[in-house]
Amino acid sequence: MIINSIRPEVYSVGVPDWNERHFHGHSYATRRGVTYNSYLIVDEKITLIDTVRKGFEKNFIENIKNIIDPSRIDIIIINHIEPDHSGAFPEILKLCPNAKVYGTEKARQGVLKYYGIVGNWVNVKTGDTLNIGKRTLKFIDMTMIHWPDSMLTYSTYDKILFSNDAFGQHYATGKTFDYQVDFATLMDEAQKYYSNILWPFNLLIASKLCAIKKLNLDIKFIAPSHGLVWQRYISEIIQKYAYWASNSCKNRVAVVYETMWNSTEKMAKKIVEGINSQGIEAVLFDVTKNDRPDIVSYMIDARGWIFGSSTHNGEMLPIISGFLHFLKGLKVKGRMSFAFGSYGWSGGAVKNIENIISSMASVETSLDFVFSPNDEELKKCFESGKIFALKMKNQ
Ligand code: FEO
Repeated sequence: MIINSIRPEVYSVGVPDWNERHFHGHSYATRRGVTYNSYLIVDEKITLIDTVRKGFEKNFIENIKNIIDPSRIDIIIINHIEPDHSGAFPEILKLCPNAKVYGTEKARQGVLKYYGIVGNWVNVKTGDTLNIGKRTLKFIDMTMIHWPDSMLTYSTYDKILFSNDAFGQHYATGKTFDYQVDFATLMDEAQKYYSNILWPFNLLIASKLCAIKKLNLDIKFIAPSHGLVWQRYISEIIQKYAYWASNSCKNRVAVVYETMWNSTEKMAKKIVEGINSQGIEAVLFDVTKNDRPDIVSYMIDARGWIFGSSTHNGEMLPIISGFLHFLKGLKVKGRMSFAFGSYGWSGGAVKNIENIISSMASVETSLDFVFSPNDEELKKCFESGKIFALKMKNQ
């Protein structure tokens, strides 16, 4: 195993999870795998920043052993307790039981509940510092970005911001730095990560970005706990975070649907044609054939969200239902929308869609047709798409 150095005496000792395809249960399809990053600083006091997921301890400890004997670890910093980062904490603590453990009070409570142990815990908050030799580490509270316990650690000596989940990407590669991989792919994964995990915390993120700016940290590296270390593209990713956090929208539309006997799909295609006829981009997503994170990632700055489903047992179909409930949890507002669908003898899907999307969007007139749409009804679908696009252009 090659251990990568971020800076002299700062090592990346985490573990890739090449074959992980479903993160956070089944809520996030990770097509490019996942990494659980951890960083080891070999200063007068040897400091480990975060650990890895349970089940990856063996490789993790081997990585540390390639640099130092783990019993020499003096300090463990827990930036975030979610088990993908804290899972190996109990095993590590067994190897260095006298190490001091630094984290927020919420992290202490969470680690105690998860593992029944916290070690020699020291609570920290924004503004607290820790001298480990030639380095001073600063702690920055990140409450609810995205858990109550979250924080960042900054090394003034190395100019590294250890950002944990923030600025992460689910992207397992053999590389360490942003410039070593394809830029478009990297940004695509960063956007997917933000939109599927951090989006509900937009307001907090926007204010935290301002607060961090006021701290005047000289950041030359952002070392997240998932994916690549940002070095060359730091300003790009910070600008992107500010953009995503601002809830800004472009005039484009996601048309997301689930169909039973292709009737709803026929409607979806005509709606897209109507939108496109006005020069507005519309992308069609069959929710059963696309990974949800990809659709959500496209939607993050799309002003228009249109949803369709066939009615089944008086309800919408199950995959689109799950998708809409996931969206609801993102707590987004200010979009334009309408619902459409087909039914056999009594509807239900369209009304149910409207009930969910009304908290996220202004809802235009729906389309709800029995069995397969005829030519006249398909024309109505086209017209609805066209009117939707015109309204969007005039906003
Ligand atoms: Fe990567 Fe919130 O855990």
